[in-house]
Amino acid sequence: MPDYDFDVLVIGSGPGGYVAAIRAAQLGLKTACAESRETLGGTCLNVGCIPSKALLHASELFEEAAHGTLAKWGVKTSGVEVDLAVMHESKDTAVKGLTGGIEFLFKKNKVEWLKGHATFEDAHKVKIGDRTVTAKNIVIATGSSVTPLPGVEVDNDKHRIVDSTGALALPAVPKTMVVIGGGVIGLELGSVWRRLGAQVTVVEFLDEILPGMDGEVRKEARKILKKQGFEFRMATKVTKAEAKGDGVTLTVEPAKGGAAETIEAEVVLVSIGRRPNTEGLGLDKIGLELNKRGQIETDRDFRTKVDGVWAIGDVIPGPMLAHKAEDEGLAVAENIAGQTGIVNHAVIPSVVYTYPEIAGVGLTEEEAKQDGEVKVGKFPMLANSRAKTNREPDGFVKVIADAKTDRVLGVWMIATVAGTMIAQAAQAMEFGATSEDIAYTCHAHPTHSEALKEAAMAVTGKPIHI
Ligand code: FAD
Ligand code: NAI
Repeated sequence: MPDYDFDVLVIGSGPGGYVAAIRAAQLGLKTACAESRETLGGTCLNVGCIPSKALLHASELFEEAAHGTLAKWGVKTSGVEVDLAVMHESKDTAVKGLTGGIEFLFKKNKVEWLKGHATFEDAHKVKIGDRTVTAKNIVIATGSSVTPLPGVEVDNDKHRIVDSTGALALPAVPKTMVVIGGGVIGLELGSVWRRLGAQVTVVEFLDEILPGMDGEVRKEARKILKKQGFEFRMATKVTKAEAKGDGVTLTVEPAKGGAAETIEAEVVLVSIGRRPNTEGLGLDKIGLELNKRGQIETDRDFRTKVDGVWAIGDVIPGPMLAHKAEDEGLAVAENIAGQTGIVNHAVIPSVVYTYPEIAGVGLTEEEAKQDGEVKVGKFPMLANSRAKTNREPDGFVKVIADAKTDRVLGVWMIATVAGTMIAQAAQAMEFGATSEDIAYTCHAHPTHSEALKEAAMAVTGKPIHI
């Protein structure tokens, strides 16, 4: 039996990697985590989930104060202004607190942080900076980075053509912003800058925003965002972007081909997706090949084809979401320790943190109908007493159930607190609930969650409040 420096070496300290490392250490395995960034926490904590939610929160407060929402509640404000420097400071404080928190947890659990870029020498040996370590098990959790768009060169430092990282750090509110890609990042960061005063235009290649979500939700989401002032150019592609001193000229044309035209913008955000980080990892040295999408394939236990090498998170197939990566981190550590770590990939909620929030779990109506007959129940937020009282009428909840068994196949919603409400739907689905199970579960009143109960009641045609 060879003697290894570590039982487990995790490469990458994002939500997948740090959770895997902590759980492995908790299970008594000698664990290290390699991270090339200055701070722990990966994309999510440093330049993703956390800083974006800080700016979404701050910009929402500003919009409520500046545009009369608070006044309608008898909270009078005057001279409301944006102090962008303070907003960025608050964001940085949140990031610092949470990344520092992971460092604390590593120390507490005795996970050794190996600072630097990791490269495989062989399947049990990895070079990190000038140190080489061996490990019985190696978990690749290197995450993802922005997909580049040919002809549109990102230059975050100049604040003209930015990716999500650049859009989280703009030093001034642009008058105009064009967002390329009507996906999650485009709509969240577009919302931030729109609320702070930018005129935001989304240029989307497809016929509708938010691909992968339920069709009705996608359509309604665009309608609501349009009402807020977003402009949308659907079925349009960007072919070129030229940055000048004070802005950017974009050349666009219909996605199916046709006459080109130009659009001017002070700032352009490129958000057309993310791709797995595998470059410079030395995967050739261990004979690990990528699939067509550049991802590392694993089995259900997160084992790659190479003995002793595992992979989780954004670098493997599936939605690129922090909570999916975290759950895979837990499961891979448990599997390495000889336990049974399982992730149910059929029940992974997704949330877009716009106002209102957009969330879903399970199959879309379109997907469910391909598998067989379904029953659908819908309930509008307008008829929910709490949402109505709070003046949050936009959105609905939709429950999709199997027509024969009544088992819930998917739940989709647009509601101010959809991100919180969707957890209940995910839990119900994890327990194999029927729509009747949800309909006959007592929900506290008055809460937005009652809309889920009523949508479940609507599956069999019996909601009370509409
Ligand atoms: P990552 O978080 O990407 O971490 C990988 C880490 O590995 C990085 O720190 C990287 O530096 C390090 N690394 C890579 N290669 C090496 C190497 N060779 N050696 C050493 N270290 C290496 N998801 C949500 O669920 N909710 C959200 O609200 C959300 N918001 C987002 C907002 C933005 C703007 C972005 C960009 C993403 C957002 N995401 C969100 C997605 C989420 O950030 C990712 O799904 C998640 O971070 C993936 O976790 P991971 O552990 O797989 O990888
Ligand atoms: P995305 O995949 O969500 O959206 C990209 C959009 O760009 C799609 O609508 C696509 O059709 C469009 N597109 C692709 N090429 C285009 C082109 N050439 N011109 C115009 N449009 C084009 O990717 P996004 O928004 O970059 O986010 C990346 C990942 O980060 C997502 O997979 C998401 O899961 C994750 N994320 C999650 C968040 C959350 O959970 N709240 C928040 C932010 C990111």
